[in-house]
Amino acid sequence: MALGNLFKRFFPDKPTKLADYSRLVVDMHSHLLPGIDDGAATIDDSIALASSLQQLGYKKLITTPHIMSDAYRNTPAIIRDKLNIVREALVKNEIDIEIDAAAEYYLDHEFIESIGKEPLLTIGNNMVLFEVSYINAPENIKEAIFRLQTEGYKPILAHPERYPFWYNSFDTYSELKDKGVLFQLNINSLSGYYSNAAKRVAEKMIDMGMIELLGTDIHHTRHLSGLQKSGNEKSFEKLLQSGNLLNASL
Ligand SMILES: [Fe+2]
Repeated sequence: MALGNLFKRFFPDKPTKLADYSRLVVDMHSHLLPGIDDGAATIDDSIALASSLQQLGYKKLITTPHIMSDAYRNTPAIIRDKLNIVREALVKNEIDIEIDAAAEYYLDHEFIESIGKEPLLTIGNNMVLFEVSYINAPENIKEAIFRLQTEGYKPILAHPERYPFWYNSFDTYSELKDKGVLFQLNINSLSGYYSNAAKRVAEKMIDMGMIELLGTDIHHTRHLSGLQKSGNEKSFEKLLQSGNLLNASL
């Protein structure tokens, strides 16, 4: 399918001003590798998503498949193999975008035990993206952060604005920041894609200068219309102007 047609297919009702993510340069959170998590299911999905991100202005993608002991038992070898398949397909389809891979680690017992025993997949030299349960406040987050930092990693908490159990205890967020945890906001939170509460928390975090990284966390083409909206939000512009974002340096 020609790229123009792909674009029309995924952005059928594009607003007058097209979202432009070229100033971010790099997206560092997505699920683009086929068939290994709840993101792209096939190589065609991978190509469609990568192509759409390229048309939104991104130059480089660091994709981050889930690693979760109960659901997605991915390893560096599995991720590397799938990355190579996607790279070849992008070249074959003449989609001009760089792609690399790390992981989104779920904070479970196996993850904590693996820290220091085997090399973790990193974003940049030493940043490790991790997420926690959406339902229960994690009891072991301080231990995970301590272990990661002891091993020379910089922890990045994925989408902190999506954990409702912390909405009324904002001090917990401040404590994590004091410990040196980087925060990665999901771009789609800015337009209320997940919930109004997540949008409000995201805006508060931007106002408080807590966000260092922005990610699409794209899983499927349904996320694309949200990205179209979010890129035109005032809060997005405010974050870009903050000077805190590390995306372009990755
Ligand atoms: Fe994710």
